[in-house]
Amino acid sequence: MTILVTGSAGFIGSSLVERLLIAESPIRIVGLDSVNDYYDITIKEYRLNRLQQIAAQYPESTYTFIKGNLADKALVNRLFTDYRFDVVVNLAAQAGVRYSITNPDAYIESNLIGFYNILEACRHSYDNGQSGVQHLVYASSSSVYGSNTKVPYSTDDKVDNPVSLYAATKKSNELMAHAYSKLYDIPSTGLRFFTVYGPAGRPDMAYFSFTNKLIKGDTIQIFNYGNCKRDFTYIDDIVEGLQRIIHGAPQRKIGEDGLPVPPYKVYNIGNSNPENLLDFVQILQEELIRAGILPEDYNFESHKQLVPMQLGDVPITYADTTALERDFNFKPHTPLRDGLRKFAEWYKIFYMKK
Ligand SMILES: NC(=O)c1ccc[n+]([C@@H]2O[C@H](COP(=O)([O-])OP(=O)(O)OC[C@H]3O[C@@H](n4cnc5c(N)ncnc54)[C@H](O)[C@@H]3O)[C@@H](O)[C@H]2O)c1
Repeated sequence: MTILVTGSAGFIGSSLVERLLIAESPIRIVGLDSVNDYYDITIKEYRLNRLQQIAAQYPESTYTFIKGNLADKALVNRLFTDYRFDVVVNLAAQAGVRYSITNPDAYIESNLIGFYNILEACRHSYDNGQSGVQHLVYASSSSVYGSNTKVPYSTDDKVDNPVSLYAATKKSNELMAHAYSKLYDIPSTGLRFFTVYGPAGRPDMAYFSFTNKLIKGDTIQIFNYGNCKRDFTYIDDIVEGLQRIIHGAPQRKIGEDGLPVPPYKVYNIGNSNPENLLDFVQILQEELIRAGILPEDYNFESHKQLVPMQLGDVPITYADTTALERDFNFKPHTPLRDGLRKFAEWYKIFYMKK
């Protein structure tokens, strides 16, 4: 299998490449990432170095990293021509809800133009009778559910009311993928990820930024006065789901009208067990103390501030994973405490080294 993983210096992308090397060798992997400075680049460099080290242990596989922008159509086309990918996993994107309020351009470039370039390259991978891309897997997000009040969120629910540009780009990706699946018979699977966390994760996310702040003695802000619930999903569960899904492309079929039925699927991938933000902060602080990152007598109450809801945020995320269980016999299961423990242990080693 020859596979393109975009966003391979990112949190989920690098974890996926690692898993593929370990579990799917021999394999040919190309990683593409612009290594942008949306957050601390040293974490992206750490992930990339780690991948080189792991790849060296699997000489029967090849792993090639290319630094480049998804919005560079000529580059994307060149990669598809040179490597003839069987599978494409598009994880590169401008992530983050709040940043999309101040930096909308980044979302249009990466999430819309970049994704369009991937779709076009998939389409042309079949030119001249070539077998082409057999499965396009791409990241969507739980944020497409906007402020839907019916929980758990099901992929059958209406998701036409995004409350951030980020969410709008992710919903657009699903729509664009549907059109390309129908027109060009490209098997595609969109994955709505629910708050992914873990070692070497994203510093812009609450568990990570809270940790940074608490260490510095700063105050953490807990939005909606703590009345928020999040379905936290541990990175290993996400990667296991991705690995299974990669091998389960939607079937190509011909409909009664003689035209292809779009080989198109969208799944939720979340823990399906939303945690209250205040409970989450409690577990985080206990695990930071356990890892020796914070002292036993740390005064949390004086470093906590309950504040109103932020623009673009939603009060709850909760995944209905029935379809994932039915089609892939899999459901994320890591308890929050176990995942935060692994994060705290990694954090200690990473920042002590620095
Ligand atoms: N982590 C989560 O909780 C979560 C939740 C829902 C959806 N997602 C989605 O999952 C995917 C992966 O998320 P992540 O948490 O690993 O984020 P991440 O920011 O760690 O990784 C994304 C990577 O994409 C790269 N990138 C961005 N724009 C690019 C471009 N134009 N060309 C090439 N590379 C580019 C970045 O440099 C980054 O390394 C994203 O699509 C994100 O929107 C993540």
